[in-house]
Amino acid sequence: MYNSQPTLIGRSRFSMKTYNLFFIGFGTIGRALAHLLQEKQSILQAGYAASFQLTGVATRRHGCAWNPAGLDMDGILRMADADGRIGKRSYEEAGLETLLKDSQADILVEITPTDRENGEPAASHIRTALRGGRHAVTANKGPVAYAYRELRDLARQADRRFLFEAAVMDGTPVFSLQRETLPAAGIIGFRAILNSTTNYLLTRMEKGMDFEEAVAAAQAVGIAETDPLADVEGWDAVLKVAALVNVMMDFPLAPAAITRQGIGMLDPAAVRRARAEDRPFKLVCRAVRTPNGVAGSVRPEQLSTDDPLASVSGTGTMLCIETDSLPGLIIGGTAPSPKTTAYGLLADLLAIVRAGPSQRSPF
Ligand SMILES: NC(=O)c1ccc[n+]([C@@H]2O[C@H](COP(=O)([O-])OP(=O)(O)OC[C@H]3O[C@@H](n4cnc5c(N)ncnc54)[C@H](OP(=O)(O)O)[C@@H]3O)[C@@H](O)[C@H]2O)c1
Repeated sequence: MYNSQPTLIGRSRFSMKTYNLFFIGFGTIGRALAHLLQEKQSILQAGYAASFQLTGVATRRHGCAWNPAGLDMDGILRMADADGRIGKRSYEEAGLETLLKDSQADILVEITPTDRENGEPAASHIRTALRGGRHAVTANKGPVAYAYRELRDLARQADRRFLFEAAVMDGTPVFSLQRETLPAAGIIGFRAILNSTTNYLLTRMEKGMDFEEAVAAAQAVGIAETDPLADVEGWDAVLKVAALVNVMMDFPLAPAAITRQGIGMLDPAAVRRARAEDRPFKLVCRAVRTPNGVAGSVRPEQLSTDDPLASVSGTGTMLCIETDSLPGLIIGGTAPSPKTTAYGLLADLLAIVRAGPSQRSPF
C-alpha cells in the first residue's frame, strides 16, 4: 500500500514513502492535524523521506469521502470549516472495514469523541483497523483507558502499531518518554495534574471568581465544554489515570476502580483562602503500586507551595513520575491547544515511519 518512489533531495537519492491516512472524526483535532501535516510537509519529506496523504475521512453527521489516490485536503478543510458535508454517503452505510480497504489506508487516525463509560465506538474502530492490518493512532483516551491490553495485543499479532501520545496531556511526550528514554525503569507511581480545565477553574476562583463565572470564562476561551461535567467531576482525569497506569505501569486498572472526587464541591471562598495561606487546592491524580496491584485516585488536595504540582497555573499540566532509578522525574506543559494535540498524533505517525517495515513494539 505504501507508494514508494525514488526522490532526489539535496545530493542523495533515496526512496520516498507515502503513507495513506484515514481520519475517523474530522472536528477540532482532525482539522488541526490536517493543517499541521500541510505545515510540516517539507520537513517530513526532507527529514524522514515520508509524506502523508489523506485518502479517507469519515464523520458522524457530515458524511464520508475516500480516494486511494488522495483527497483534496484544502477542499475537505473548506467543507469542514463551513460545517458542510464532506461526502454524500453516510459512514454507517459504508462501514469502516470497507472504507479502510477502498481508501487503501495504511494508518487509521481515530479522533472521535471520548466515551467515558466504555471507550466505544473508538475502541471498535481501532480493532477494525488493526485486524485489517492497519496501524492506528488516536487522541482519544477512551480506548487506552478501557481496552489497552486487548488493542496492544492485537497490534502485536498484526505486526502493526497502536499509539496514543495525544490522549493524555495534549501532545506532551509522556508515553514516548517512557518508551524511548526510560529503558528498564520500574515505575513505582506518579502524581499529576492532568485536567487543564479544572486547573484553570481553580486558578480563576483563586483570583476572585465564583464557580459559574469561572466556568463561563473557561468556555469563553474554548477550554471548557458546553457541559463541563466530565472535567469538573473528575471523569476526564480518571480516564487519563487509567490510561497512564495501563501503559506505563503495565497494570490493567479499570476507571471504575479509581477513587474519584471532582472540584464541584469546593467552595470558591475556601479556594481563595487556601491560596492566601499558601496551601492551594489542586485536582491531584495519583497512582501507586500496592501489594494487590496499583491504586489510583483523583481528588482535590491542598498542596504546600514547594510541591512542584502547586506551581501549575491556568491550563498547565504536570506529571511527576517516581521510578526505581529516577525518583523525581517531571514533565509538563503550559499551553495546550488543538495544535499541541495534533503534534502528539504527528509524533505517533513519525514513530511508525521511523520503525520501518517491522513494527514490533515493546508495548
Ligand atoms: N479538542 C481538544 O483540545 C482535545 C485534546 C486532547 C484530546 N482530544 C480528543 O480528541 C478526540 C477528538 O476531539 P475533537 O475536539 O476533535 O472532537 P470534535 O470537534 O467533537 O469532533 C469529533 C469528530 O468525530 C466525528 N464523530 C463523532 N462520533 C462519531 C462516530 N461514531 N463515528 C464517526 N465519526 C464520529 C464527528 O462528526 P460530526 O461532526 O459529523 O458529528 C466529528 O467530526 C476526542 O477523543 C478528544 O477527547 C481533544
